[in-house]
Amino acid sequence: MKKIIITGGAGFIGSHVVRRFVTQHPEYHIVNLDKLTYAGNLANLRDIEHAPNYEFVKGDIVDADFIDRLFATHQPDAVVHLAAESHVDRSITNPLEFVMANVIGTVNLLNAAKKYWKGRYDITRFYHVSTDEVYGTLGEDGMFTEETAYDPHSPYSASKASSDHFVRAYQDTYGLNAVISNCSNNYGSYHFPEKLIPLAIHNIKQSKPIPVYGKGENIRDWLWVEDHARAIEVIFHKAKSGTTYNIGGHNEWKNIDLIRLLCQIMDSKLGRAAGESEKLITFVTDRAGHDLRYAIDATKLKNELGWVPSITFEEGLEKTVDWYLQNQEWLDDVTSGHYQQYYNDQYTNR
Ligand code: NAD
Ligand code: DAU
Repeated sequence: MKKIIITGGAGFIGSHVVRRFVTQHPEYHIVNLDKLTYAGNLANLRDIEHAPNYEFVKGDIVDADFIDRLFATHQPDAVVHLAAESHVDRSITNPLEFVMANVIGTVNLLNAAKKYWKGRYDITRFYHVSTDEVYGTLGEDGMFTEETAYDPHSPYSASKASSDHFVRAYQDTYGLNAVISNCSNNYGSYHFPEKLIPLAIHNIKQSKPIPVYGKGENIRDWLWVEDHARAIEVIFHKAKSGTTYNIGGHNEWKNIDLIRLLCQIMDSKLGRAAGESEKLITFVTDRAGHDLRYAIDATKLKNELGWVPSITFEEGLEKTVDWYLQNQEWLDDVTSGHYQQYYNDQYTNR
């Protein structure tokens, strides 16, 4: 049996990746390693927590000794690395936390892989899950390809770019079997309501203001999280060592247009008059260094590995809204306590 450590498996994307590997691959034993920060929530995995091929380990990737012990104890054959601080706004207020988790944490995992996989680099695999934000920002035209030069702007994207470089450096220098994917904005169930789509759903539900940064003209390329998890599964199994794949939905939306669409869906789901939720849109101070536009060219992934998104944005957004409306308990849980404090500090002065 192959043993795979998935880091950050209690987070948004990680929980979907863990679920996919646990349910689709009974031949693997999955170890979910997560520190359970504000963004990690074991409730995201309640449906599979008793699966015979799944176990959870609480721990911090910044702790090198712990990571060394983890490898010694579990003797994994592969790592799928998602653990990270992931929110751009938080990186602007606390960049060092992002350097620690995203850069030092990744290097700690690479060091353990180098040490414990020596002599077995051909049959082991280090998969680093990264972001399109490493490429910086686009103007009105063009798309990010795997050849686009790195040009990160936020502390978050700088930390992810750095971790990508370290993964490539370990592949080039030591021959570690490593692959990287860079994905666009995800949306779907279990998304923490500090990010645009779940925050807007949560606020519309409560008839609270929907904060739209600047004029709402920034563009993001949205992908359903379950399609991302499936892309990771395909790349994990089929990609050659040393390769990189962009993952995206060919689905660009201006923030303000996306919010208007979401308001229409919410009006109809909540039985409100047409136009009611749009009244909640509130333009607030822009994000510092706000990247204008992201757009992914995922042709390489389609042509080489046969992956394409499975659903349209309208279908995915409706599924997502339904999930949030049916999971009020989950929302109450994550929006209480520590997160609530952050939320208040973050938004009261905008
Ligand atoms: P998330 O914030 O929802 O989850 C991150 C998880 O990592 C949490 O469970 C958290 O507890 C864990 N974690 C954080 N620091 C840790 C540490 N020091 N040790 C162990 N665990 C730790 O993030 P997400 O949105 O699911 O993103 C997952 C990965 O995918 C990240 O690497 C992110 O950069 C990347 N990514 C995200 C998106 C997106 O749209 N959300 C898009 C492309 C790539
Ligand atoms: O592109 C991939 C990235 O997508 C991931 O690497 C990040 O981990 C993930 O958080 C996401 O980053 P963004 O900054 O694009 O996502 P966010 O949901 O924070 O913001 C989406 C857009 O909406 C962005 O242009 C900022 C804007 N925004 C965001 C929030 C939270 C608002 O207008 N209002 C808001 O309240």
